[in-house]
Amino acid sequence: MTAAEQGFPAKEQAPKTIYLKDYQVPPYLIKTTDLRFEIYEGETLVSAMLHLYRNPAAAPASQLTLHGADLELVSIALDGKILGADDYEFGEENLTIFNTPAEFKLLTITKIKPESNTSLEGLYRSRTMYCTQCEAEGFRKITYYLDRPDVMSEFTTTVVADKKFPVLLSNGNLIDQGDAENNRHYATWHDPFKKPAYLFALVAGDLAHIEDSFTTCSGRDVTLKIFVEPKDLDKCDHAMTSLKNSMRWDEEVYGREYDLNIFMIVAVDDFNMGAMENKGLNIFNTSCVLAKPETTTDVGFQRVEGVVAHEYFHNWSGNRVTCRDWFQLSLKEGFTVYRDSEFSADMGSRTVKRVEDVTLLRTLQFAEDAGPMAHPIRPESYIEISNFYTMTVYEKGAEIIRMLATLLGKEHFRKGTDLYFDRHDGQAVTTEDFVAALADASGRDLTLFKRWYSQAGTPRLHITDHYDEDAQEYSLTIKQSCPPTPECQEKLPFHIPIAMGLLGSAGDLPLYLKNAEPDFETGDNTHKVLELTSAEQTFVFERVQEKPVPSLLRGFSAPVKMHYDYSIADLIVLMSRDSDGFNRWEASQQLGLHAIHQAMKVYQQGGDLKNWALEPDLIAAYRSILQDDSLDKAMVAYMLSLPSEAYLSELADLVDVEAIHYSRTAVRIALAHALRDELMRVYQDYDHQQPYSATADAIAARSLKNVALGYLMLLNDDALVQACEQQYRTSNNMTDVMAALTQLVNSSSPLAQQLAVKALDDFYQRWQHESLVVNQWLTVQASCVLPGTLATVKKLQQHPAYDGKNPNKIRALISSFCNGNPINFHANAGVGYEFLADQIIALNSQNPQIASRLLTPLTKWKKYNVQRQSLMKAQLERIMAVSDLSKDVYEVVSKSLV
Ligand code: TRP
Ligand code: ZN
Repeated sequence: MTAAEQGFPAKEQAPKTIYLKDYQVPPYLIKTTDLRFEIYEGETLVSAMLHLYRNPAAAPASQLTLHGADLELVSIALDGKILGADDYEFGEENLTIFNTPAEFKLLTITKIKPESNTSLEGLYRSRTMYCTQCEAEGFRKITYYLDRPDVMSEFTTTVVADKKFPVLLSNGNLIDQGDAENNRHYATWHDPFKKPAYLFALVAGDLAHIEDSFTTCSGRDVTLKIFVEPKDLDKCDHAMTSLKNSMRWDEEVYGREYDLNIFMIVAVDDFNMGAMENKGLNIFNTSCVLAKPETTTDVGFQRVEGVVAHEYFHNWSGNRVTCRDWFQLSLKEGFTVYRDSEFSADMGSRTVKRVEDVTLLRTLQFAEDAGPMAHPIRPESYIEISNFYTMTVYEKGAEIIRMLATLLGKEHFRKGTDLYFDRHDGQAVTTEDFVAALADASGRDLTLFKRWYSQAGTPRLHITDHYDEDAQEYSLTIKQSCPPTPECQEKLPFHIPIAMGLLGSAGDLPLYLKNAEPDFETGDNTHKVLELTSAEQTFVFERVQEKPVPSLLRGFSAPVKMHYDYSIADLIVLMSRDSDGFNRWEASQQLGLHAIHQAMKVYQQGGDLKNWALEPDLIAAYRSILQDDSLDKAMVAYMLSLPSEAYLSELADLVDVEAIHYSRTAVRIALAHALRDELMRVYQDYDHQQPYSATADAIAARSLKNVALGYLMLLNDDALVQACEQQYRTSNNMTDVMAALTQLVNSSSPLAQQLAVKALDDFYQRWQHESLVVNQWLTVQASCVLPGTLATVKKLQQHPAYDGKNPNKIRALISSFCNGNPINFHANAGVGYEFLADQIIALNSQNPQIASRLLTPLTKWKKYNVQRQSLMKAQLERIMAVSDLSKDVYEVVSKSLV
């Protein structure tokens, strides 16, 4: 297909693809980078003095091409000599300087306009402050530079601005500050650590801060500051506690000490992602810093803790050791997600955290891996790198590291990461370097394992077993396969760790693997890790005295789809007494799936789901979960929660939106009727007057109580509706308020509907000045499963609370509707699709990264019936025909239309 046929106007070139195989070392390196920002209302002048020298590892070059985008060049001088028009040439997004010597100083002055920068990349204005976002390739919107992660330089930055911006920040340590002319002032920061430009940051604003300190393991005192708009000063404590916990944890678990005298976090309202790990100056989306019980749900608190940890951990996994090129993104992201997830597991409940991570992976990442944007965790090519900050690079990337940790064991894994940090400190490296360090430190051959880095797709395991009573032998035969993905049709077998145990009538059986290496027999002999390395393998266990129920893939030891033909009775055994908490939950999900799939069959054959009843065994099993005092309440809550519509859709080859929604609801209603008394007890036993606490136990108790409320509200009983409204009105924390509001809004009971209107109104009146709370108010309405929600969403776009330029508002309203409300998004012959395409087209020029992210639901068109397929495809084609399509949107739409 030519560019024109693909929708690109004939005179324009289709954006070009970048390939990993084309990587070349940079021709020049930059020893020091001295920056001076003169911030004025409406424009900022950037002076950049770069000390450049030829890279000894590259062929000698006598010209230099620098990246630069949307810049106005004011002047350029080489070693003090002003360059003339013949000395350089502008390219599309670059500047080439001719006749460059072996070593020189380049001084450029450029003019940029942060106030009109709506892409939120480079230097931009967010409400009252100026801030930057440079990852991945945003630094080129600030000045001409070698904007690639393998060019690491020592930065000194001076910021000059009006005194109405009292706080002037950049990376590293403050080395100078003072007054300047015209009621202006300046601050100079020096970062002693070489870093790539994507880790550069600058902030200027009228900010308040909280301050604390941390004494590192070697006894150095580090000043910690969190900067926010003054109105948010009361919402910083949780982030500060999380930061100190993270710093201690990284010392204890990875031996990593913080390296500067100061660590700063700044919260900004307009931000494309969660947060950014700029050296010594992390910049955060307000949604990932601010938290207090009155405004923030428990999930919000946990997100703050996780993101603070994530960005802090990048100081080593990303900053001290960084990426050679953007194909290596998972080197820092996968590893850092693994690190933050282990941190959260240590701070709260390990099993609960695992259930949450696996749920995310199986719904969103598996779907991505099965769709048109599927890519290996180390992609081979991209058009726009911003499109590769994905569930695959992050979450699957973390699973790959987790498997390495499982295969190596705790001690060898730590030896490996020590070697990695030590060997590569100050370098820009590859995923190969990471795996090599682990292999060298452990003595293990990880050649086969590396296929996880280059092959996309979710592997499938098909497991069968055989019990030979006479021989007392039990065998497991495991076959693996992997469906084709865009970059690769035929997959080689993966190296897959399968943690397992065998359940006998009195608990876990001891495991004696036939022909096993001796070390298989050491340690806990009821729990083992089998290593699958070929397409099919059989593992035989000896001295097995009864036919066991196998507990497979414990803790979700590999990111795969496993099939083993469990009977309902087997699942009930696993759910009630497996020693692996994760597999108990997994069994509950399988039972839920079984029930929903049965209801779906009836629905699809035109049957009636009214008064749908569940099998008595199943009800008894769920009842016993509710009565099991040994279980963590958070686990009971998750075990009672049926698989989501998103997960059910991922599992289906052809998504039947209505069948999924109505069958799942029917099963929920059936459970609510069958377990009414037990659910009532859970709800009533909860002390609604207790003071708020954020301990893991208190969070767990709230989540179980609110799951119970969700079921009870399906009974459409006026007394329960009133109890729900009372919870809404009298709770002292946002978790309980939102849980009640969500139930009122989604209930079809006329009384609930009436109370919901009042509650929504009251909620807005009360919280209209808290932007993050207003976002929750938008989300609740956009997620309403009752008919008419699209009209509500359109009306809310006109509401003063909405701001179509703020990514958090877009996510709260538009994404919640299009991603989190399938029954409405897919309704009425494609009006939802058209609505989404309208939003994407409007955002394409304003904020390409957000526009591109919004596309996801349309990219899944092949999973729907032919009528929906053509309606969704038509909207993709409409987007494709837009002139001036951003690279971001172009890449996703063109790949989805193949
Ligand atoms: N490195 C950031 C993180 O994962 C991701 C990030 C923040 C980002 N802002 C971005 C990626 C903007 C692309 C564009 O912690
Ligand atoms: Zn990250």
